[in-house]
Amino acid sequence: MHAITVPATRPYQVTIGRGLLSRAGECIGQLFPRRSVAVVSDDTVFALYGQTVMHSLEASGCTPCSFVFEHGEASKNLTTYSRLMEFLARSRLTRADVVAALGGGVTGDLAGFAAATYLRGIAAVQLPTTLLAAVDSSVGGKTAVNLPQGKNLAGAFHLPAAVFCDCAAFDSLPEHIVRDGCAEVLKYGMICDAELLRLAKTPDVCKSEAVIERCVRIKSRITAADEHDTGQRQLLNFGHTIGHAIEACSGFSCSHGQAVAAGMAYITRAAARMGLCREECAAELESTLRAFGLPVSTSIPARALFEAALSDKKCTGQDITLVLPQAVGQCVLKTMPSGCLLDFIKKGEQPL
Ligand SMILES: NC(=O)c1ccc[n+]([C@@H]2O[C@H](COP(=O)([O-])OP(=O)(O)OC[C@H]3O[C@@H](n4cnc5c(N)ncnc54)[C@H](O)[C@@H]3O)[C@@H](O)[C@H]2O)c1
Ligand SMILES: [Zn+2]
Repeated sequence: MHAITVPATRPYQVTIGRGLLSRAGECIGQLFPRRSVAVVSDDTVFALYGQTVMHSLEASGCTPCSFVFEHGEASKNLTTYSRLMEFLARSRLTRADVVAALGGGVTGDLAGFAAATYLRGIAAVQLPTTLLAAVDSSVGGKTAVNLPQGKNLAGAFHLPAAVFCDCAAFDSLPEHIVRDGCAEVLKYGMICDAELLRLAKTPDVCKSEAVIERCVRIKSRITAADEHDTGQRQLLNFGHTIGHAIEACSGFSCSHGQAVAAGMAYITRAAARMGLCREECAAELESTLRAFGLPVSTSIPARALFEAALSDKKCTGQDITLVLPQAVGQCVLKTMPSGCLLDFIKKGEQPL
């Protein structure tokens, strides 16, 4: 078991180990003795782990209640959010009580946003059950729901009170969902940890406690230094500008992890062509992505990707900040006129 203290303005702990869901009551009860705990989960995850968590909370003296919604990104919207807010009010949760997000990034973002806004903010505990949620979304305090106009457009910064990551939960994940999380693990390797990229060679290694701990330490360090995403935190967007455009252009049939994988490959090939990094850097990333069965290109035209990227919320105004690799394990931020992105996409779409 590993415990990492995130040195945020309000520090919190991330605990990583096996069997933590069956000890959820003990873990949460220690921080919030005898409080009401609203467990928020999607139908798939609740069917697998809901009763374990509810029983554990009851046994610890807490009073649990549960809100279960239909799994999938489509549920991360204002309708589910408003149903959840009304549920919290009907359950008479007070400011001293807790929302526990049991699930992947969709659950964490939705429950986190409800916790951020219910009674102007109550405690949120994250219980991530996907690899992506473990290494990325459960840490850092970004919460949101989607609007018809775009992803994550309604949200808040709300740090979790604690994160308990039970690695045993990953045993029930379908392979393609594990692979999406692997893309984010490889992202950490590319931005600041070359050894991680070389270590994390298979999905099983990516799901290991050691690798999750390593990723959480990176995310913890970067987000604590830039809680509100105005500087270095943008490094975490490596591969995401083009990745988000791929997701949008595919009508979201391409998963986030696949899109980010291709986005990382595009920007690294472009950087190599522009002499910002060596060609070996792009070749190493590509061969690693391929080994995971992750894509390194798409058939979407450069112009369409460019236009989709410009309508993303992170690219407003005249300028765009890109995350560019200098070497494996070393990326930098570079702000440029947004028109330059088209050139990057065009250079990135040509195979090595
Ligand atoms: N807040 C942040 O900083 C941040 C960062 C990255 C991504 N995100 C958000 O995270 C979301 C994606 O997260 P995700 O990929 O975890 O999606 P998800 O929450 O939809 O989970 C993916 C699928 O896996 C299922 N599942 C979850 N855990 C399982 C388990 N242990 N066993 C079997 N099935 C399981 C879920 O029911 C769901 O169908 C997006 O909405 C994205 O915007 C947020
Ligand atoms: Zn991502």
